[in-house]
Amino acid sequence: MSIKNILQKDSIQKSITVKGWVRTIRNQKGLSFCNVNDGSCPQGIQVIFDKKFNEGTDWEIVKDIYTGTCIEVSGDLIESPAKGQKYELVAETLKMIGYCDPEEYPLSKGRIPLETLRRYQHLRVRTKTFGSVFRIRSRLSGAMHRFYQDKGFLHIDPNVITVNECEGGAGVFTVMENDVTDIQQAPRDETGKYDWKTDHFGRRAFLTVSSQLHLEALCCGIGNVYTTNKSFRSEHSTTNKHLSEFVHLEVEMAFNTFNDLMDHSEEFIKYLAKDVLEHCKDDLESLNKFVSKGIIKRVEGMMSEFKRVKYSKCIELLREKGKYKELKYGDDLWAEHENWLTEYFDDRPVFVTHWPIEIKSFYMKQLDGGECESFDLLMPYGVGELIGGSQREESYEKIMKMMEDKEIDPEPLTFYTDLRKYGSCPHGGFGLGFDRLVMLFTGIKNIRDVIAFPISYGSCKY
Ligand code: 4AD
Repeated sequence: MSIKNILQKDSIQKSITVKGWVRTIRNQKGLSFCNVNDGSCPQGIQVIFDKKFNEGTDWEIVKDIYTGTCIEVSGDLIESPAKGQKYELVAETLKMIGYCDPEEYPLSKGRIPLETLRRYQHLRVRTKTFGSVFRIRSRLSGAMHRFYQDKGFLHIDPNVITVNECEGGAGVFTVMENDVTDIQQAPRDETGKYDWKTDHFGRRAFLTVSSQLHLEALCCGIGNVYTTNKSFRSEHSTTNKHLSEFVHLEVEMAFNTFNDLMDHSEEFIKYLAKDVLEHCKDDLESLNKFVSKGIIKRVEGMMSEFKRVKYSKCIELLREKGKYKELKYGDDLWAEHENWLTEYFDDRPVFVTHWPIEIKSFYMKQLDGGECESFDLLMPYGVGELIGGSQREESYEKIMKMMEDKEIDPEPLTFYTDLRKYGSCPHGGFGLGFDRLVMLFTGIKNIRDVIAFPISYGSCKY
């Protein structure tokens, strides 16, 4: 039984066994107090090696226990006379499962800053903070699937190796089989360029930056769909919000309206907030105490109504009230503008809607006057853009013209433009950075600290 299950019974218990890693051990007048955690809850369990135990044969083992040691302890769970916890386990037997040398173990020295822990991604999960972050992450993932499955959306993960680049501006990773370490030996075509015909797919292929286009094809035949594929972007960015590989929740809905998309996104975030508040109370409280002060209030704040503001209005506000005088209509918004906007609207999430198509993607539904039915959902507390979504352009003529204007090669997108030729229908969707969502619900400031083994520009260590 996990420590969480033992403590959840909320009663004294005879002869229980726990297995886990020692967080702390303290020796005092023949007694030893040891906190053991198996990763099931933030607090772990307090184990007492009392005087009687310490006179027995297993005492020799206690002397070899340090932070990080893996042990198995059995005994009775009693009400704790001390303040720190309701119950404690009085040890009767002890087994050393895995010794941990205190001189070498990198986490043996109490509280370590998150940045330092990034060097020990294989071990940091044993700390209180990372335990909470990963349990909340897992809960969010389950809640996300429940939300979509209950609504009857189909979960389908299309191919991540693809020939299209979807988001023009996002850098792509090329996929190749040939080893071109010795560049002189690389196969070349008649023009002297690398000969893609000799490679695995007989042509150049990429890791997907977004599964949207494939989802659209699925949606225009089987209705509402979603994916939890990873997306890959070779952006040369070292911000606290960008990774080379991230979990991308993408949703595509058929026969919807632009407002439906925003209603749906808002409902989804509120659903997750409620779920996490209900099911991750201990973890939120633990984070609230130490690394993310105020996180509970922030998650509760997700229940208030989201703002919906047109892009043109946002530019006006930023210029007039935010004193960003250099900003003009047609400019993209940077992180500082996003933060200013959410602060201006009392830390509420803000949908920035109706962007100029000139700075947005070719597939967005065009409106008269050069704007398109698109939105970015901005989140407060420095998280910034969490979702990008739009209605999709359903007219074949309009989308072909836009691709021409934006100089997009139509050949790899024939399947996509076909959708507009054969029974086109109104549809739309969005992409949500799941890792940024975890930042939002844990209060963790750097995306590298909400992911098991983050991969970012200049950093692929595991
Ligand atoms: O705004 P983006 O680029 O939109 C798309 O890719 C659309 N094709 C999605 C769709 O409509 N199906 O990305 C969507 C979200 C962003 O709002 C952000 O949260 C996240 O993906 N994201 C990243 N997260 C981590 N690291 C990166 N490098 C990210 N790039 C985007």
